[in-house]
Amino acid sequence: MSAADAKRLTIAEADRAVTALVDRLAGAGLLPAGSEFDAGAFHTLRSRVWDAFHVPQTSISPVMARLMFAIGDCTRARRVLVVGSYYGNTLVWLAGRALLEGGADRLVGADVDPDACAGAEQNFARLGGRAPVCIESCDGRDVLPSDEWDLLLLDADCPHTRKAIYLPLLHAALPHMAPAATVLAHDTALPAFAEQLAGYKHAVGDRDVFAGSAHLAVDPCGLELSRVGRPTTTTPRS
Ligand SMILES: C[S@@+](CC[C@H](N)C(=O)[O-])C[C@H]1O[C@@H](n2cnc3c(N)ncnc32)[C@H](O)[C@@H]1O
Repeated sequence: MSAADAKRLTIAEADRAVTALVDRLAGAGLLPAGSEFDAGAFHTLRSRVWDAFHVPQTSISPVMARLMFAIGDCTRARRVLVVGSYYGNTLVWLAGRALLEGGADRLVGADVDPDACAGAEQNFARLGGRAPVCIESCDGRDVLPSDEWDLLLLDADCPHTRKAIYLPLLHAALPHMAPAATVLAHDTALPAFAEQLAGYKHAVGDRDVFAGSAHLAVDPCGLELSRVGRPTTTTPRS
């Protein structure tokens, strides 16, 4: 989908696009069978986030926010980690169901930028969700060993290697991922990052480690979704 198309989607069209995509991901075995996008719950959270969150800038499009909410909800992730959490505008969607209703074990954002971490903490404090969120001002690699994660989003942008940091982050993460965990990587559709992300994309294609992987070009940034485990079904890349 082009940038112009992503911006042109109405609310109903964005809801329908994510409903259809979630259905496809469930059919491909990349989300649990029977997964559905709960648009009502998403919009309840969205109106609260609009009131509570201050984000200086973001690349998270409305359709990506829906998709992240759906992935966090459908995987029923209880231990969620975002590496490169900035002001919290990815963690809030991935952890959306728990923020609305409670029921998470650990919701963590890690970022090396202390100002962004302070901003994220203020955002989550104003939101007042029903599950506690922990923002760690550090390299994501320092947080990874502290738990076994159900859902991991890589969104770090290293000043030196930019998105090439995803591969060492993935290697550091794998020993700490739960069985059938979901690993997400943001910005995988941007041509400017293609070379930096080649190693990461090759790694998630390893079917001894990942049951399947799909590139979701729902907006110009895109998202790679990979499910840890041995393949149980054929999962063609889209
Ligand atoms: C571009 S921002 C992500 C913003 C997000 N896509 C959004 O729109 O809200 C990338 C973040 O990664 C952080 N970062 C870079 N290297 C990191 C690392 N090793 N561990 C954790 N965070 C890191 C940066 O400080 C920055 O805040």
